[in-house]
Amino acid sequence: MMSRLVEAATYAPEWVRCVEKFYGVGFLSAGGERICQDLVERLAVKEGDSVLDVGSGSGGMAFCLAENVGATVTGVEYSGSLVTLARHRSEMKSLTDKVTFMERDMRKLDFEPQSFDAILFWGSLVHVNAEDCLPMFRKAYDWLKPGGKLVKQGLMRSESDGTVTQKFKDYITRMGYNPITYSECIQFLSSSGLQLLEFENRRDFYIQDCADTLDKVKKNWDEIIKDVSKETLEKTVSFWEEKRRWAEDGVLYVCLLVAQRPLQED
Ligand SMILES: C[S@@+](CC[C@H](N)C(=O)[O-])C[C@H]1O[C@@H](n2cnc3c(N)ncnc32)[C@H](O)[C@@H]1O
Repeated sequence: MMSRLVEAATYAPEWVRCVEKFYGVGFLSAGGERICQDLVERLAVKEGDSVLDVGSGSGGMAFCLAENVGATVTGVEYSGSLVTLARHRSEMKSLTDKVTFMERDMRKLDFEPQSFDAILFWGSLVHVNAEDCLPMFRKAYDWLKPGGKLVKQGLMRSESDGTVTQKFKDYITRMGYNPITYSECIQFLSSSGLQLLEFENRRDFYIQDCADTLDKVKKNWDEIIKDVSKETLEKTVSFWEEKRRWAEDGVLYVCLLVAQRPLQED
């Protein structure tokens, strides 16, 4: 679970500003704004649908769903400073009637059954402990309308830890990540009643995403450096280069899954 200390270090304003230069304003995880449309299609969200964005960060995905599709989005976020930032952006965009951000720990959420057409865990579930994942999936099942979809993207743990270096383990600890394995994930989904529709190892996507992002940052270096300190930018670039190497070596393993609450219960 992410502690307040990890939160302060990981999602410090300067770092958030820097990562948004990499992924786009409002986006703190792989793919950033470039994959909004893909996400809309995977979630199968339509105008008027109600979406829960768990770990909504600085708000990009929620705005994308509200602006591009006309969905009503509830963003839930642990970090108070990210909630403040996302709310400010919501006001600037005149989207407060469509998008709501709540400062909450995802493990303590409570909604009425069948409140949502879709639920998103985009880079966020990795922050809770493995034992919290099954209760989260069970709650997600309960909150989804029959036929509603859950989409999750994030870091997972490989079944064999053989290739994992100490440096990678330190990174996982520093970020407060607790990645689960594919078999744990499948087991949790099936115990929750959610039906797996798609599972994708996004290794190639992630490597390409790192390369494109680094390319973009290097091309826009002079602009970026006006808003972010040289030290933070250089540190973030070398961190991204390292993440790309880890992905190439199969150590850093990012997956995407789509699951559904079945239309009819057994
Ligand atoms: C990698 S960021 C992704 C943010 C956003 N989904 C995106 O793609 O830009 C993970 C987010 O999950 C949030 N988070 C971590 N633990 C959480 C918890 N227990 N409850 C709610 N949010 C949490 C973090 O504060 C962070 O904003």
